[in-house]
Amino acid sequence: MKRKIYIETYGCQMNVVDSEVIFAIMAKEGYERTESMDEADIILANTCSVRDNAEQRIWGRIELFHTQKKKRPEVIVGIVGCMAERLKDKLTDTGKVDLVAGPDSYRAIPELIRTIAPDKPQVDVLLSHEETYADIVPVRTDKNGVSAFISIMRGCNNVCSYCVVPYTRGAERSRNPETILSEARDVFSRGYREVTLLGQNVDSYLWKCDAGTVTFAQLLESVAEISPELRVRFATNHPKDISDDLIEAMARHDNICKHIHLPVQSGSDRLLEKMRRRYTREWYLERVRKIREVLPGCGITTDVIAGFSSETEEDHQDTLSLFSEVGFDYAFMFNYSERPGTLAARKYPDDVPLEVKTRRLNEIISLQNELSLKSNQADIGKTFTVLVEGPSKKNPDELCGRTGSNKMCVFPDRIHKAGDYVDVTVLSCTSATLICKLA
Ligand code: SAH
Ligand code: SF4
Ligand code: F3S
Repeated sequence: MKRKIYIETYGCQMNVVDSEVIFAIMAKEGYERTESMDEADIILANTCSVRDNAEQRIWGRIELFHTQKKKRPEVIVGIVGCMAERLKDKLTDTGKVDLVAGPDSYRAIPELIRTIAPDKPQVDVLLSHEETYADIVPVRTDKNGVSAFISIMRGCNNVCSYCVVPYTRGAERSRNPETILSEARDVFSRGYREVTLLGQNVDSYLWKCDAGTVTFAQLLESVAEISPELRVRFATNHPKDISDDLIEAMARHDNICKHIHLPVQSGSDRLLEKMRRRYTREWYLERVRKIREVLPGCGITTDVIAGFSSETEEDHQDTLSLFSEVGFDYAFMFNYSERPGTLAARKYPDDVPLEVKTRRLNEIISLQNELSLKSNQADIGKTFTVLVEGPSKKNPDELCGRTGSNKMCVFPDRIHKAGDYVDVTVLSCTSATLICKLA
């Protein structure tokens, strides 16, 4: 019988790809993927450290994995990913974790597993300047076979003062564009119709070789040229780096989805400076104007942090007014969580009381709900091409799929299937969904 590996994935989309890379590495060792913890020989959690609550959840999972180990002492329990990198042997010190592997150590997992023995856990958290897993073909774990994530770079060279990612993921490095293109061609030939190119700051993607350099805008166009039937998405852009070149490249290709995720973090210049984001509110608003001018109808979404160190009521109002001014289509909204080892943790006290953070966060959330509703209402009567993802979650008689601008549409349809493109007309909406009919 084949040995089985089970992975739970937390955190960002990059971790989704990383888990697929681990499945690929372990498949070569003869391990088969399982979705049931009970039958697994190896149980891994691929973890996130970006906020404290992400880590708290993992501590809970470690307890649960341990109940498996009590039933089946031969089971290997491992923590990989960002929390593994941050906490290292603090995880094995619990006596409940056999394996700790950081984001650049996945090739070492088979060897680490061979050396694990009772009371001899293995830890590898070396970060690399080169590792991109470029040659590894991920074992896809998506459910519908329509949409694939492709990692184009790893690490981050920014030092946003609140952020743990540069410490857990190491220095930025770009992946060989040939391997990115061949992966995109491969998934397209296997029926996938959408790829999302992933990096912490895709605008700083840069490949240098004897033949010259490849920028992100060039890479994106090459991927888009694989086929007009292949949709291309990407994340995440950094407001300080998003270039006119990129915005104009998006305009040249119908199959590059018109959606930009542009995390703003705060609307206050004073806080942006303290966060070390290296742009101003005005710069951000100018980038939004440029996007809207060149790409009418482009979806713009964001991330924001409420209650960063020393945030005043006025700073908070600046964030609210920026949200109203931009009218984001969607936002990921978080309370500030101090991360040990970051610049902010060393220099700036986490001094906004939790109830104030939460009140401000709730104000942002309710404003954003109104903005999302308004943005969706503006689409009523319009027709969009959507890529069908499969049956709608709420109603199995309906299909769901996204517009290029990344809005979720649901519509009654008994003919089409996942991977088809269909034109739909918007009849009504909620703040989260466009309710449509076939056009
Ligand atoms: N590379 C991306 C973001 C990666 S982390 C960028 O530069 O925008 C995803 C989001 O988590 C960030 O955009 C930020 O909004 C949030 N985040 C990061 N560190 C945080 C912290 N310490 N507390 C709360 N939210 C945080
Ligand atoms: Fe973190 Fe800033 Fe890098 Fe994004 S750009 S991952 S927020 S350090
Ligand atoms: Fe979390 Fe690491 Fe991604 S900290 S957000 S899993 S890069």
